[in-house]
Amino acid sequence: MKGIVFTEFLDMVENEFSYEVADKIIEENSLASNGAYTSVGNYDNAEMIMLITSLSKHVNTPAEQLAAHYGKYLLNRFFILFPHFFTSVSTTFDFLDTIDRHVHVEVKKLYSDAELPSFETKRISERKMQMFYRSGNPFACLAGGLIEGACEKFNEKITIKKDISADHMSATFTLTKED
Ligand code: HEM
Repeated sequence: MKGIVFTEFLDMVENEFSYEVADKIIEENSLASNGAYTSVGNYDNAEMIMLITSLSKHVNTPAEQLAAHYGKYLLNRFFILFPHFFTSVSTTFDFLDTIDRHVHVEVKKLYSDAELPSFETKRISERKMQMFYRSGNPFACLAGGLIEGACEKFNEKITIKKDISADHMSATFTLTKED
């Protein structure tokens, strides 16, 4: 998993919890990286799972909820770091349609060692769309949070039904636009 996902995660922990908690979750796991992440480096996915699991223990919040919360945070960071992906579209559905066929394709050009999930989208109607997540990694809750973050960014009231597989490596998200 790319270092940017780790560096942003630790920044969130420092900002929203504390520097001490960030330090603790690094210290109590025997991480091959020692927690010294650089945004362009590549690290074992298992380290992200260890960090979230430790955070969950310290802040007494389920890991799945923290992963989703991080997804929302990360979407806001992507908006700042990669604004051009957001300027060519004006709705959540149009943005989500671009992830698999454009955004992650560009990410792969930028970081050739990135391991990206596949995201098929299906328009059911003008107000309803489905997104199918499939990955070699168990990050479906993170994906759900990224989707929620996108709905907020485009300022649309959208209900998201999340059907996540037990191994968290696949999910179906059904989005319904309210008004
Ligand atoms: C501007 C928007 C976005 C950018 C720049 C971006 C970029 C990235 C990058 C750099 C990674 C790390 C790849 C690796 O670890 O090797 C990643 C992973 C991921 N992205 Fe995106 N992404 C964006 C939007 C989204 C959105 C909206 C979703 C959800 C619909 C999403 C879902 C994911 C997931 C779930 C992963 C973790 C890897 C996995 O599950 O296999 N991304 N993305």
